[in-house]
Parts: sequence; structure tokens; C-alpha cells
Amino acid sequence: MVAPEPLVIAPSGPLRGSVRIPGDKSISHRSLLLGALARGTTRAVGWLDSEDIAATRTAVVALGARVEVDASGALCVTGAPWRDAAGVLDCGNSGTTARLLLGALAPRAGATLTGDASLVRRPMARVMQPLARMGACFEGGLTLPIRVVPSRLQGADLVAEVASAQVKSAVLLAGLAAEGTTRWTEHVPTRDHTERMLLEMGADLTQVDGTVCLQPSTLLATDIDVPGDISSAAFWLVAGSIVPGSDLLLDDVGVNPTRSGILDVLARMGADVTVEPLPGFEPTGMLRVRAAHLRGTHISGAEIPRLVDELPVLAVAAAFAEGETVIADASELRVKESDRIAATVAGLRALGFDADERPDGMVIAGGGPRRAASGPVLTHGDHRIAMAFAIAGLRVGATVSETASIATSYPTFLTTLEETSRA
Ligand code: S3P
Repeated sequence: MVAPEPLVIAPSGPLRGSVRIPGDKSISHRSLLLGALARGTTRAVGWLDSEDIAATRTAVVALGARVEVDASGALCVTGAPWRDAAGVLDCGNSGTTARLLLGALAPRAGATLTGDASLVRRPMARVMQPLARMGACFEGGLTLPIRVVPSRLQGADLVAEVASAQVKSAVLLAGLAAEGTTRWTEHVPTRDHTERMLLEMGADLTQVDGTVCLQPSTLLATDIDVPGDISSAAFWLVAGSIVPGSDLLLDDVGVNPTRSGILDVLARMGADVTVEPLPGFEPTGMLRVRAAHLRGTHISGAEIPRLVDELPVLAVAAAFAEGETVIADASELRVKESDRIAATVAGLRALGFDADERPDGMVIAGGGPRRAASGPVLTHGDHRIAMAFAIAGLRVGATVSETASIATSYPTFLTTLEETSRA
């Protein structure tokens, strides 16, 4: 194995200019999966070309779909009846690939799913249990590798036990090919990209309060305009806020209300972020961020799923804010690509900040570093930890243990980092 290459980031002058945010990862996965189930060719413009998406792409091709990139760069996915996958499907680092595939495969085709060292540790029972209530059949344990044995499914009335869009989406993808009605109730709303796309593609789906009700449906291909990923924009929203004198424009960013918690939190912290709405398949906007004096805040409850992937970089913002920040009700962070509570607190401490772990979150003292950095920030192979602490480095300097993981979600991050800090 090649030793990971650390990255040294020096404090930067003001960040300026316009940043192109790569396509939304959640919507790109769904374009491939729903496109692979639909009749006709789905065309996704602005899709994310990253390692996680490559894992989903390879899987749907192995299951029978045709996937091409046309001359304009659009991703074209032609659906077909799914066939059993010949080899093992490697989901790499991507939880979304694994969990959504468990649901999509259950009524349709057999396959064995596996993943990298991080993914094989992540919980799959949360998806397998509701699917099993519909009649799904799995072989193996409660973590990858898992073999899906296709079986006849029956719609069921299910209630979310964890606030997870991945679990909800797996159930809905299974429900499309089940007998009878599938009902999914969530008490805390999670990202609704799957529901929006299913409706767009002709599924018989209704939503009342927190319940999604789906009848067996045939999907029809559609054109999808993939907005920029607010989870990637998050790094620049924080960088622009904490590096004095910065002024950044982030064009075409998805601001779906189930994803836009970071905008509410930054507003509470006193950040200077404006949103100019743009037309789009999903709520989209042009964001402008200028440096500001930030204040600490509390982040908890129903806000957590609306910003779950942004918490490491929000913790970095909090470290430079005046006063304490408390993050609670976020124990889900412990089962992401790494234990993000432990990794974020350890990273902040390595840079000389005061921060403490809580079982379900963390407390960050704020006010900048209290002492000199004691060593590199360890990313634990987690892309969002690597990027969050690269952003901290723009203000105080930092060494980040590796950057290879960043390619899972944001392959152009380091180029943009260089361009904006040189501008
Ligand atoms: C995702 C849902 C979230 C998020 C992940 C992408 C999705 O996970 O953290 O990065 O595309 O549905 P959970 O469903 O586990 O909360």
C-alpha cells in the first residue's frame, strides 16, 4: 500500500471569486439507480463524477442498465430489467450505494455487496430490518458483505427508527416492485430527493405530514438538472466566513429545505450569506458569502438531519466563533465514514482548540486556538474530515494526514482551494 500523502495548508489571505460547486452526490446516486429502473433513457446534467458515484455506476451496469456520458457531458442511464450480478458488487466507501442497492435489489435481482474497510464496519441492520418486514431475504451478517436473494415483497406500514434518508429510500425502491401499498413514516424529516424524483418519474406516491405512501409503479425516464451539492458548498460557506476579507460566489447550489440547515445555523452565528433563488428541478440558489464575526450556537433536534454531513465543518466555524457551541442529538455522526464526533474533536484539539466529546455530539469552546498545534489532523480516511480541516488550515495553518479520501465526494476540492486562496 502507498503511504498516504499529508497536506500542509498555510494561512491564506482573503478568498475571492466564483466557485463552481460539483453536482449533488445524493441526487447523482439516485439518477443512476432510478434511471436504471426506469423505462427509457434518463439524462442527468451536472452530475457528480466522483468515486462514490462510480461505485453506483459500476453496480447498475452490472445489473443490466446502460450508462454513457454524451458529448455534452450529461450522464445517460438506460433502464432494463435487472439481472443477477455476476461478481461481487463493491460499493467502495459509499453508504448510499450499499443501502439504496439493498432495497433496490431485494424484489428484483441477486447480488453480493461489499465495501472498503470503513463501509464494512457501518450498520446495515437499519435497512435490512424494514426490508425483511416486506419479505426481503438476505444472507450474511448485519454488516457487509451481504448477499441479497431476490424474493416477492409485500408492501408494509413502516416507521423510521433512525432519521435516515438512505433507509427511507431503500424501502421506497423496494416498494416500487412490492405487492400493495408501502407506507413510510418519519417523525424527523430527512432529505426528500428520492420522493421528488419518484414523482417526477411517474410513481404513484403521496405525502401527508410525515408519511410517504407508495403504490407499485413503473418509472419513466426523465431529464434531471443536478444542482451543486450544498454539502460541498458548505466548505466554502465556512471558509468565506472565517478567513478575514473573503468574498465568494457559489453558483447553482441546491437549497432543498431538507438539506439547508447549514444556512439557518450560519445565519444564527452571524454569518454574511445571501441566497438568490435560481430556477431548477430542485430548489436552487446562487450563494454569496462574505467574512463575518461569528457567534457560538446550539445545533440539535430536527435540525441535525438537515445538516448532518456539514457538522465537521460547522464545528470548524464554531472553533473560530465567539462563545461556546453545543452540538447534540447527533450520535449518527459516530457511524458515518468515520466516527466524526471523535475525529472532529481530536482534529480541533490537534490544532490547539478546546473541544469535548459528548455521546451524541460535542462542545466547542470557540474564540480561536488556545495553544500551538500539537501535530497533524488525522482524517481516518474520511473525506469530510479532510476537507473540514483543510478549511481550518486556511485560517491558522494545518497539516491534514491524507487527502486521497476527498475523491469520494469532491475530486476538484484541492484545485478550488488553491484557486480561491490565490485569487
Ligand atoms: C444520504 C443520506 C445521509 C447522508 C449521506 C447521504 C443520502 O445519510 O449522511 O451522506 O443520499 O440519502 P443517512 O441516511 O444515513 O442519514
